[in-house]
Amino acid sequence: RAERIPFTETMPVGRSPNLLLHRGFVMIQGTHLPQEVDQIQDLDLRDSDVFVATYPKSGTIWLQHILLLLQSKGDVDLMSNKDKLSNGDLVPWIEVNGQIQEFATAESPRFRVTHLPFHLMPTALSRKKGKVIYVARNPKDILVSFYYFHKLATMLETPRSFDDFFEKFIKGEVMGGRWFEHIKSWFSHKDDINMLFITYEEMILDLTSVIKRIADFVDTELTQDQLQNVVKHSTFKNMRKIPQANYEQVPGDLLDHHEGTFMRKGTIGDWKNHFTVAQSEKFDEIFKQEMKDFPVSFIWDIR
Ligand code: A3P
Repeated sequence: RAERIPFTETMPVGRSPNLLLHRGFVMIQGTHLPQEVDQIQDLDLRDSDVFVATYPKSGTIWLQHILLLLQSKGDVDLMSNKDKLSNGDLVPWIEVNGQIQEFATAESPRFRVTHLPFHLMPTALSRKKGKVIYVARNPKDILVSFYYFHKLATMLETPRSFDDFFEKFIKGEVMGGRWFEHIKSWFSHKDDINMLFITYEEMILDLTSVIKRIADFVDTELTQDQLQNVVKHSTFKNMRKIPQANYEQVPGDLLDHHEGTFMRKGTIGDWKNHFTVAQSEKFDEIFKQEMKDFPVSFIWDIR
C-alpha cells in the first residue's frame, strides 16, 4: 500500500486571493475543497477506471474528447451526449467539489481527468487497480497557454502582465502548483503497468499512432475506419467545431468568451512569440537543474 502523505497545513499562495497550497497541490478556493481532495486517496477503484492526469494546459480536454470518441468508435453522433452535456461534464475533474460522491456510484467505465500530483491520487492505483494516461507538454508552451487561460477563466486572477505571470509560473504560484514538481511526481511512475505516458507534442506530430496506443491501453478494439474517424474528429480544426468538445457551452460566469477560447492555437512553439531571450535562458537554466535526473525529452519547436 502506498504511503499516505501526512497532513500539512493549508496556506495561501503568494499574493493570490483565491489560491491555497494544500499538501503540494495549489487549489482554487471554491472550486476545490481540501477535505474532499483528502478523501480521493481512499476511493475504491475498478479495473475499468481511466484517469487522465495532466498539469493544466497540457491537453486535458483533448484527452477527454479522445476517450469519448474511442467509446463511440469514432462516431461523433453516438458520443454520449443525450443530455447535451459537455465533455467536461462527461469526463469531469475528480478533484472538483462534489465529484467524489458522484464517482462512487457512477456507471463503468468511469473516465476522469485530474491535475493532482501522484501522491494525492487513489492509493488503489499503486495496487494496479484502474489506469492512468499522463499527458506531458513542453512547459514553455504550457506557460503561454496558461497565461491566456488566466484571462479567459473567471475563477483565476487576470495576470498583470506576461512578465509577472512568467515569474508566478516559475515559482508555482498558480493553480496546480509548480510544473516541475508535477511532472516529476508522475514521471517516476511512467513505467508502472497501469500507466501510459504520452506527450502533447507526439500527438501533434503523429496523432494516429498516439491514438492507437491509447486505444490499446484502454482495451478498445477499432477497425481501420473507426480509428481514422477517431483521429479525424480529434484534430484541432475538427474538434473545435464540435460544441460538446470546444467548451463554448461553458457558461459565461466561468469562462469569459470575449477573452478568447479554450481551444486557442493548438501548436508547438508558440512560446517563441512570447518569451524574451532572457526569459528563455532563465527558463532553460531552471529546466536543466530541475530535470537533470528526469530524462523527459520535449519538442520545443516544429521545424
Ligand atoms: P493552446 O492554448 O496552446 O492552444 P487543457 O485542456 O489541458 O487545458 O489544454 C488546453 C490546450 O490544449 C490549449 O493549448 C488547446 O488549444 C490545446 N488543445 C485542445 N484540443 C486540442 C487539439 N485537438 N489539438 C491540439 N491542441 C489542442
